[in-house]
Amino acid sequence: MRESWRSRTGFVLAAVGSAIGLANIVSFPYMVEQNGGAVFVMMYLASLALIGFPVFVSEVVIGRAAHSSPTGAFRLLGRNWAWTKTGTGVVLTGLIVSSFYSAVAGWILGYLVEALSGRLTSFDSVAGASGHYKALLASPAWGLSFHALFLGLCLFVLFGGVRSGIERASKVLMPLLFAVLLYLAIYGLTLPDAGTGLRYLFSPDWSEITTGAVLMALGQSFFTLSAGQGTMITYGSYLSKKDNLVSSCIPIVLADTLISLLAAVAVFTTLASTNVESTGGLDLVFNTLPVVFSRIPGGFLVAVLFFLLVTLAALTSEISAMEPMIAYLVDEHKWSRSRAVIVTGLSAFILGVPCALSANLMSGWAVFGKSILDAYIFLALNVLVPLGGLAAVLLVGWRWGMKSALTELGQGTGELFNRRPWVAVYFRFCIKYLAPALIVVVFVRALGLL
Ligand code: PHE
Repeated sequence: MRESWRSRTGFVLAAVGSAIGLANIVSFPYMVEQNGGAVFVMMYLASLALIGFPVFVSEVVIGRAAHSSPTGAFRLLGRNWAWTKTGTGVVLTGLIVSSFYSAVAGWILGYLVEALSGRLTSFDSVAGASGHYKALLASPAWGLSFHALFLGLCLFVLFGGVRSGIERASKVLMPLLFAVLLYLAIYGLTLPDAGTGLRYLFSPDWSEITTGAVLMALGQSFFTLSAGQGTMITYGSYLSKKDNLVSSCIPIVLADTLISLLAAVAVFTTLASTNVESTGGLDLVFNTLPVVFSRIPGGFLVAVLFFLLVTLAALTSEISAMEPMIAYLVDEHKWSRSRAVIVTGLSAFILGVPCALSANLMSGWAVFGKSILDAYIFLALNVLVPLGGLAAVLLVGWRWGMKSALTELGQGTGELFNRRPWVAVYFRFCIKYLAPALIVVVFVRALGLL
């Protein structure tokens, strides 16, 4: 028999675990920094409501309707060869995401070891921290071994299956993560210049708004919810018809947003109070924060907690990026779960090797002027993931049809759409028209065609 979640809470926690990851804790703060502070935060919140959430719900409802991997789900609802192949394309996107995601998460795991060794609290300048970062990245063995170790940890959870693996791990890890982040944010708030950090985050200066920032916010709202690559279709496929989808999805999106905001509060209050210059991008985590950790009291503990937390967040995301492929092999090819887990893990490892080597042995390689890692990220985030999300909303809105989809979505909600007709209007409008239109704009823009 096909596996399912033990409880609705199990699904909610696993989906929260998937959604919360490097995009919340690592990318969100630096995107805020690059895109005008509070203005970006506001745009991000708006795009979550208008695009992220409708796409997310579409994927979960596709999964629950079909109770199968994205391939089977697209076959059932799309009813032809092209839709079925699109479903398989979505599964492959998941595999690509899991390959570079693991390479980057490997660095975070490596930094946890650095933090434990005390090295991350020994820098008095960004230049010192950055020299250390570059030296680590220059070592192929360092990148490869943490890529492998991180994937190994993920496989360990995945072997356990849906209930005793993913569901159980998420139940422990998610509350722990929240507690650690809350501690860091409260810590930041008690620092002398916390107010400056908060104003930067929450008091928008609308003159700073740029098209680039709007589009970045759209893309971010999408990736942070793990939409567009089969994860939510697969997680939705382990739900039962009795479960209320609407009230399950709302806390997931809220928790994801809360964590991004908490991470930003922790980062910007601490930065404001320590006067450390930020160099932007991934450097924020690898170069700037270590200097902050070196200056604040209790920095050692804060550094260890921070990297532990990000590793855990990345772990529950990584397993969710691999699950569509595993479900595909189990559902479509009748493989045993363990065989599917091993083959998926090995494929993610092999595909991720060039990413782990992109700053050292393969640093001379360039794809369209980008390093190998950047090319993977670009291909996944700017091309494949938007296409996967577009496919989901088009499938629901135009092929399967809003009427059937709303009937499926309404199951288990106790006649929600009769009691509150505007909820149905919101879903119909966003899924059928707004989300596809906005995704096309982001997509075209991201490819530099606009
Ligand atoms: N949502 C995850 C994050 O925020 C990334 C992710 C995307 C994970 C897609 C799985 C699938 O880091």
